[in-house]
Amino acid sequence: MRGLFVLLVLISLLTACTQSKSGEQALQNQIDSLKAELDNAYKPGFGDFMGSIQTRHSKLWFAGANENWELAEFEMHEMEEIIEDIRAVYPDREETQSLPIIEPSLETVNNAIKQRDAEAFKKGYLTLTNACNTCHQATKVEFIKIKIPTIPSYSNQDFKKLVNNDRIE
Ligand code: HEC
Repeated sequence: MRGLFVLLVLISLLTACTQSKSGEQALQNQIDSLKAELDNAYKPGFGDFMGSIQTRHSKLWFAGANENWELAEFEMHEMEEIIEDIRAVYPDREETQSLPIIEPSLETVNNAIKQRDAEAFKKGYLTLTNACNTCHQATKVEFIKIKIPTIPSYSNQDFKKLVNNDRIE
């Protein structure tokens, strides 16, 4: 009788063990398939992120040149968000390791904007533009040369700052 009891306990322990093993396997399979789905999900390429940075860099210039500090702040914020996105999407890419190159100049431009200082903004912007190119050299795309823009890429945006909440008539 006691032998049978021990046997029953052993059997039930064994099935519990194999059941949890197969449960574990099912979970692992689910994790693997989710991972595969994530790997195949659409992700902007490094170059796509750079194209967005290029837009922000250009708009930032016209905002600052017009002393439209609110817009300049906005464009800086957008650019910094894209940089964070690159870090999140491509944490292991070699190019991502060079991102700190741009950080001191972002800080300089942010300070100029905070102080509403047009001269400091222009100097900071030049430093920022040089940092873009320094990183392009570091990441072996030195043929992508960034410069201070001369005309806005978009003609449908007014970069002048709002005066008395003026509206387009
Ligand atoms: C981490 C270093 C790094 C920094 C900082 C950086 N870039 Fe890039 N950039 C790259 C790399 C790498 C590529 C090539 C991407 C690819 O392989 O598609 C690139 C490509 C580009 C391109 C070409 C994409 C296109 O659409 O033609 C532009 C434009 C560009 N960067 C603009 C900028 C601007 C403007 C800045 C500064 C505000 C900047 N980049 C800062 C690394 C950097």
